[in-house]
Amino acid sequence: MCKKKTPHQSCVLVTGGAGFIGSHTVVDLLESGYRVIIVDDLFNSSEKVLDRIRQIVGDQAYGRLSFYRADVNDRAALEAVFDDNPIDRVIHFAGYKAVGESVQKPIEYYANNLGSTLTLVDVMREHGCKSIIFSSSATVYGDPDTLPLTEESPKKFCTNPYGWTKWMIEQILMDVAKADAAWDVVLLRYFNPISAHPSGLIGEDPKGIPNNLVPYVAQVAVGKRDAIHVFGDDYDTPDGTGVRDYIHVMDLARGHVAALEWMDGRTGCEIFNLGTGTGSSVIDVIRAFSAACGRDLPYVIEPRRAGDVTANYADCSKAREQMGWVAARTIDDMCRDSWRWQSHNPNGYDG
Ligand SMILES: NC(=O)c1ccc[n+]([C@@H]2O[C@H](COP(=O)([O-])OP(=O)(O)OC[C@H]3O[C@@H](n4cnc5c(N)ncnc54)[C@H](O)[C@@H]3O)[C@@H](O)[C@H]2O)c1
Repeated sequence: MCKKKTPHQSCVLVTGGAGFIGSHTVVDLLESGYRVIIVDDLFNSSEKVLDRIRQIVGDQAYGRLSFYRADVNDRAALEAVFDDNPIDRVIHFAGYKAVGESVQKPIEYYANNLGSTLTLVDVMREHGCKSIIFSSSATVYGDPDTLPLTEESPKKFCTNPYGWTKWMIEQILMDVAKADAAWDVVLLRYFNPISAHPSGLIGEDPKGIPNNLVPYVAQVAVGKRDAIHVFGDDYDTPDGTGVRDYIHVMDLARGHVAALEWMDGRTGCEIFNLGTGTGSSVIDVIRAFSAACGRDLPYVIEPRRAGDVTANYADCSKAREQMGWVAARTIDDMCRDSWRWQSHNPNGYDG
């Protein structure tokens, strides 16, 4: 295992690196000097993201990136990637992430999310690479009793199979670190990642009807959908709509690079919340996006959606104190960059 390396000496495998959060993290890694290997089967992403990454980082940094189109569940393919590259750390983004779809397709969600993680850690162990950052989610906190949420807040019952996969993978990785003291595991619990690179070249490109608020708002802003559906305006919040801790994907990407630097040479398992610590309501987001795109966006109030919690936001003091990481961007910055991405790429990577 190779520890205490400078970024230039380090080779990071990024599973799911062609996806939304993965692509932004790859940009930050390349700009920070790392060698990067993406393994992605393009189930929910486009190969076109690679050229966009090249445009952002330039040819020299792009020369440190390799892409393999492969399923992380494909053990032989993954072994070949490890055989060909001196991988010393892994950031594991690959997985299915649509909450509603997971209720309809639990077998596929458990098989892909748990299966890929088990294959990955087994192949890592075989190759003496025992350093992993995992994309977890605030969903493991369930319906919180108190806010803000700290890493000590209890994990609760999840309301859908997607959430359970995060819950279970956290447990698997904690057990792996407990069984073998050489492992170095960081579980990053994201709050609500949104927005896009300020260049407008990469961003979130949901297939079909967006599941999350901001991509939906962005599609209304660009005229692809008629109106925003606000699910519930009778929550116990200042304006009655649900409150979430939205985090700019650029700040989130930086959180992964900060975690890589922080974990270098450590062992064990640590958990960090990655959010801003500030809650924004659905109406706050609609107002901020309206300001960004220069027109009042239409919305309709609908009944509450099953499984939605009233509010959640993070206490991120652990990440600040230990990794020196803070989320710098405001909800206005997030909406401005989302709008730039959406207006330049109304059909995502397809034009
Ligand atoms: N976006 C969010 O709101 C959010 C919040 C919390 C946690 N997360 C987690 O962060 C990670 C990244 O999320 P994202 O928003 O970038 O999602 P995304 O769908 O844009 O990216 C995931 C990538 O993984 C790939 N993939 C899926 N299964 C694969 C497999 N078996 N082998 C190889 N590649 C595979 C997909 O093609 C895609 O490119 C996911 O694990 C997700 O659950 C996301």
